[in-house]
Amino acid sequence: MYIKSLQLKNFRNYASQRVEFGPGINVLTGENASGKTNMLEAIYLLGLGKSPRTSREKELISLGAERAYVKAEIAKKYRSHTIEILIENKGAKKIRIDGIPVKRLSELIGIVNVVYFSPDEMRFVKAGPDERRRFLDVSLSQQSKTYFKSLAKYNKILAQRNTLLKTENRNENLSSLLSIWDAGLAEVGANLILARKNYIKKLSSLAKISHWELSDGKENLSLSYECNTDGETYDEIYSSLLSSFSSSVEKDRALMFTTKGPHRDDINISLNDNDARKFASQGQQRSVSLSVKIAELTLFEHETGEAPVLLLDDVLSELDIRRKEKLLELSNRTQTMITCTEFDFKPSNLSKLYKIKNGNVLNR
Ligand SMILES: Nc1ncnc2c1ncn2[C@@H]1O[C@H](COP(=O)(O)OP(=O)(O)OP(=O)(O)O)[C@@H](O)[C@H]1O
Ligand SMILES: [Mg+2]
Repeated sequence: MYIKSLQLKNFRNYASQRVEFGPGINVLTGENASGKTNMLEAIYLLGLGKSPRTSREKELISLGAERAYVKAEIAKKYRSHTIEILIENKGAKKIRIDGIPVKRLSELIGIVNVVYFSPDEMRFVKAGPDERRRFLDVSLSQQSKTYFKSLAKYNKILAQRNTLLKTENRNENLSSLLSIWDAGLAEVGANLILARKNYIKKLSSLAKISHWELSDGKENLSLSYECNTDGETYDEIYSSLLSSFSSSVEKDRALMFTTKGPHRDDINISLNDNDARKFASQGQQRSVSLSVKIAELTLFEHETGEAPVLLLDDVLSELDIRRKEKLLELSNRTQTMITCTEFDFKPSNLSKLYKIKNGNVLNR
């Protein structure tokens, strides 16, 4: 898949702009604050219907404007699509696919798949569990609408259960009130855990290979899903989840939120059998993050039959020549958008080179 063109109107610091992209490497250079990340943000928005940077959508509208508009033409293996997203100061976001308005975000997900790599993602190893869960959710949601819907449902029930923990905190019957939500929460929760476990198994074996190469065969990387829910099958996970909800009622009541469940899980990262989250050096952290991203992209190809769009925001400057080459190898298989302040390398499959200046895109 690749993005043929992108049109932005009153999006962040872009007043009105249309850009054409090639299927290989597209480089966007420009000074700080020129609008490079904003452009990748617009592409991410097309893929996931949300920004990687903010949950406050109105921030995407240019200051002083009423609405932001993003339109893209997408070439896929078997057909092309047009996606339009309109974000208004008043009212909900509007999405159209091939000119037809769609009501649910789940209809958008999966048309443009993106793998986003920025200095934030480079902190994959040392970031908190919430960042690693976000990685899982973003990646899995794009690959499976079922996962995306289960996640939305889980979060909804979880929010209701947490509200109850606050509003009925002193109610003697709190446990039985909560148990009404627990079955539903365990049902969708078990689906999430099962999908995440399967995904990490595949991810781990692919990331292991990249990391082995990057470390000259010295380091064995292994990823596993970390949770306090036992079991491998859906039924086992469901019962384990249900009993952990009921056994932690007193703790939940004291802390006024749900303390167990997939919203608290993590990815265990081990390097030669040591916990990388605690012990990895900076170089090792970079290699792990890179290997995980490479594995993520490869898995996308395996699972969906098409390579996603690779968005590299300002990461090349943080990588040495060897890691840079390893990353750019991917662009032989996938459309790649690279942002940088200095463009000082010569990739073989360069499609387009643009200079961005104060929200204006110029040919270089
Ligand atoms: N809603 C908005 N309206 C107008 N301008 C905005 C809006 N949101 C952000 N900006 C501006 O967009 C500019 C460019 O931001 P962006 O993050 O894309 O820069 P960048 O080129 O990636 O810079 P860097 O190299 O520092 O990462 C910033 O100056 C910011 O103030
Ligand atoms: Mg930036």
